[in-house]
Amino acid sequence: MRTVSALRLSATLLLAGLATPILAPAAALPDTLEQRIAACLACHSVKERGDAYFPRIAGKPAGYLYNQLRNFRDGRRHYPLMSYMVEHLPDAYLREIADYFAAQHPPYAAASAGSADRATDAQLTRGEALIRQGDPAKKVPACVACHGSALTGVEPAIPGLLGLPSDYINAQFGNWKNRSRRAAAPDCMADIAARLSENDIASLSAWLARQPPDAAARPAASLPQASPLRCGSMEASQ
Ligand code: HEC
Ligand code: HEC
Repeated sequence: MRTVSALRLSATLLLAGLATPILAPAAALPDTLEQRIAACLACHSVKERGDAYFPRIAGKPAGYLYNQLRNFRDGRRHYPLMSYMVEHLPDAYLREIADYFAAQHPPYAAASAGSADRATDAQLTRGEALIRQGDPAKKVPACVACHGSALTGVEPAIPGLLGLPSDYINAQFGNWKNRSRRAAAPDCMADIAARLSENDIASLSAWLARQPPDAAARPAASLPQASPLRCGSMEASQ
């Protein structure tokens, strides 16, 4: 398995042309975790945050990362290079990678340009209201009820929401709406996305992307109160 993984990572580097190709036979590579995750850092290292689309994965709860790696592998999320990186990898290997990234806390790079730059004051006000209070008329709970009062996420399976590019957040809501991003049922984020308008989504992503993230912040240990909706992914991360 280890040799197969090393081959896969070096093959991906070659394919993607993202780094100096590794020409040595895979079996000769040192089999350390750092070497295994080197290919991931081509897209997920903090210095790449100038790109408006690659999400930061460092410091997210391990259960959340593990769920996402399985979602890409098993076809519940779709991004061809991500799926390729993890296809055929066993759960134990994905868990090891998730634990590695969950323990990393590099500083944040400056926010990248994106849709947030074009937000109006009315959108920023609407975005903050959705995050902090939700919208009872639309049956949308406050985002802070699940993502934590400081939006740093909650162990083991809810991600923090700061430090993500607005374009990435918009794309995820679009994916939930058209069911191309799915989590274990009941899929609470898909239900929430279905209740939000395009303007709601642009508003909340703009507000989120404009909040300065804190590299010293950590996911909360537990939810502030009982979750306002059931989320299958909170139960599936173990
Ligand atoms: C070619 C660039 C690229 C490479 C290489 C890459 N990723 Fe990704 N990754 C992405 C993109 C783009 C997304 C967002 C895809 C989407 O729209 O859902 C993503 C999403 C993710 C997510 C979900 C993040 C979240 O917040 O939900 C995880 C976890 C992840 N990648 C881990 C990895 C790991 C581990 C590796 C190495 C084995 C890796 N990635 C290699 C580009 C890459
Ligand atoms: C009932 C609990 C709950 C509420 C309320 C909630 N979320 Fe979530 N959210 C989750 C869970 C659980 C996940 C992980 C889903 C998965 O595993 O794919 C998640 C994932 C996300 C992600 C994916 C982050 C990434 O890196 O890809 C975003 C963005 C997000 N939520 C935004 C919001 C916003 C904005 C609101 C408020 C409008 C909100 N959430 C309200 C539980 C909740």
